[in-house]
Amino acid sequence: MKVLGIETSCDETGIAIYDSEHGLLAHELYSQVKLHADYGGVVPELASRDHVRKIIPLVQRTLNSAQLGKSDIDGIAYTRGPGLIGALLVGSSMARALAYAWNVPSIGVHHMEGHLLAPMLDARKPEYPFVALLVSGGHSMLVDVKGIGQYKVLGESVDDAAGEAFDKTAKLLGLDYPGGPLLAKLAEEGESGHYQFPRPMCDRPGLDFSFSGLKTFAANTIRSSDGQHQTHANIARAFEEAIVDTLLIKCRRALKHSGHKRLVMAGGVAANKRLRASFEEASQVDGFDVFYPSFEYCTDNGAMIAYAGCQRLLAGERTLLTEKAMPRWPLESLSAVNLLAAI
Ligand code: KG4
Ligand code: ZN
Repeated sequence: MKVLGIETSCDETGIAIYDSEHGLLAHELYSQVKLHADYGGVVPELASRDHVRKIIPLVQRTLNSAQLGKSDIDGIAYTRGPGLIGALLVGSSMARALAYAWNVPSIGVHHMEGHLLAPMLDARKPEYPFVALLVSGGHSMLVDVKGIGQYKVLGESVDDAAGEAFDKTAKLLGLDYPGGPLLAKLAEEGESGHYQFPRPMCDRPGLDFSFSGLKTFAANTIRSSDGQHQTHANIARAFEEAIVDTLLIKCRRALKHSGHKRLVMAGGVAANKRLRASFEEASQVDGFDVFYPSFEYCTDNGAMIAYAGCQRLLAGERTLLTEKAMPRWPLESLSAVNLLAAI
């Protein structure tokens, strides 16, 4: 089965074709980062308008690069939510129009399920069950995953998401939007040990996160610093270490709590090199396996949506053309997929 995947939940237009027999055949991405940089964050109305402009040429380009025509496509998967409603409406309208015109089924995919399943695009795939750490610009969650659609949220952020904390702290350091990767780059020049940031919510039981205090701590530290480049790099380093440590403490707890021996990390922040290195090290010390998508499938993309949609379509699931987009959509409300039917 060949599935065209469409991702438009935020500021990236991602289109891909996933084949249940041969894997990913093509994927294209258009990032609106430059468009929003002047505003220091995503402007929802501008995002929707840009998706409208870019989506058709990108679908065309993806079909061309896979050397496929419309008659080769067996189903359309699109991000149904959560995300910016205007942006979601562009992708879901496009998906429904194509499904209607090409007379194929369509399926609305949960964006975080897309992230969670992104490591399945790799040659080295995790087996079920596992604990998933989902860390993106909009969400931070720990999920017990027994199979596709069998999700129990073990903990989540009570305030800012991890990516949001990166972006806000980066802004305080004078870095452009989205600041996460830029802060990580600056942190590479920093020296450890100059500042001691807190490890929020680690001294009490539970698996929830809180990152807004780290951002406030960073704001105060930056304000009382000399403002030199090296000082900023040292602050970025201490901030990054605090986030990485906090995520690791909670993941170790979640692995213990669930009894699982596999950990999947996904979402934009999973592209962070220090996070990956520190989890690799911990996995060897503690004896668990760690999985993450390749860099390009950590941040938003169409491939993860095409993959997740393909599994659900194979299991016979469909989303009616009359169903609404879901700007808010609890992950736990998804239906379980029969893994024997899905390949
Ligand atoms: O998953 P994603 O592309 O979009 C959402 O679904 O939100 O995640 C984007 C987030 C942004 O906050 C971005 O700053 C962060 O992921 N991010 C990073 C890195 N690369 C992307 N944060 C830290 N280090 C990185 N290397
Ligand atoms: Zn995302």
